[in-house]
Amino acid sequence: MKQKKARENYCLGIESTADDFSVGISTFNGEILANIISAYMPPEGGIHPREAARHHAETASKVLEEAFKKAEIKPQDLSIIAFSQGPGLGPCLRTGATVARALASDLGIPLVGVNHCVAHIEIGKLKTDAKDPVTLYVSGGNTIVSAFDSGRYRVFGETLDIALGNCLDVFAREAGLYQKPSMPFGAVVEKLAAKGKKLVLLPYTVKGMDMSFSGLLTAATNLLKKGEYKLEDLCYSLQETVFSMVTEVTERALAHTEKREVLLTGGVAANKRLQSMIKAIAEEHDAEFCVVPSEFAIDNGAMIAWTGVLAYKQGIATPIEKSFVKLRWRLEEVEVPWVK
Ligand code: ATP
Ligand code: FE2
Repeated sequence: MKQKKARENYCLGIESTADDFSVGISTFNGEILANIISAYMPPEGGIHPREAARHHAETASKVLEEAFKKAEIKPQDLSIIAFSQGPGLGPCLRTGATVARALASDLGIPLVGVNHCVAHIEIGKLKTDAKDPVTLYVSGGNTIVSAFDSGRYRVFGETLDIALGNCLDVFAREAGLYQKPSMPFGAVVEKLAAKGKKLVLLPYTVKGMDMSFSGLLTAATNLLKKGEYKLEDLCYSLQETVFSMVTEVTERALAHTEKREVLLTGGVAANKRLQSMIKAIAEEHDAEFCVVPSEFAIDNGAMIAWTGVLAYKQGIATPIEKSFVKLRWRLEEVEVPWVK
């Protein structure tokens, strides 16, 4: 066991784009040896970037230590350090980048800046064996339908305003619901929605391949305040409407690209109703439905480590002087030469 490990190459990946600080360790062959996630829970309201960054700075050394312990390797065994370079919240990204730079220069090993959205797709492919999927990536900060074409992951459709997960979270907060680390707001809404029966009409906004959720959120919140409908029915109607929108766009991307797989990822991928809707369109198009296990669907360091490996094997590295964070780094700006 020890001997095999000594010959392996390892990458440590740091994720810190938003409310999670996470460290993952991957071998160069895609074996994930550790994936430690520390989630910041704001006392009330949404995430405050500086408060989340403070959490990341305070928890970094403990999370790193746990990751090395879990992987049963030492810092000196590492070959490269990868980090989430963007997109994300400035203070959070900068905290992760600072830790990554310090580690890489201390150990004298290369640094690889990774695009967070690319990493969500790559870990999904690794964990589900999908080869060339249409991906629906739905989280608190992103709503993107994408597929690979001519060297990049192209964006086929996306939100024009807030992300789907954020829409669910804000609605839940307005409704005075309570979230725990084991049960995020989206999961609380899912539980209530399962008891809903009446479908209340809410604005359904798909423009071409893009979606808008903010008008719908305002409408649902106004109905909530009026108190005419049961909360269960509003949760049900909210879910049915927003999930139908992303399913419509995903189906169109599938029909257009004629890909044979659909990959569902991001924190909202845990939702069973969304899974069943995406599975249904996959089946209609003779495509395989793949869903990322939730440990790897939420923000995690393992996805950064694995994408760092893929990039590094293509000769990609990020010199320290070019390792500044990119708050609005779009998925389709990134060349992915490891995908053929
Ligand atoms: P990103 O930086 O990629 O935008 P994020 O910081 O939002 O990610 P994730 O953990 O990927 O983090 O996603 C969190 C979102 O997932 C939250 O909006 C949360 O409410 C939602 N979510 C979690 N579980 C469920 C569920 N069962 N149903 C619906 N939404 C869920
Ligand atoms: Fe993410």
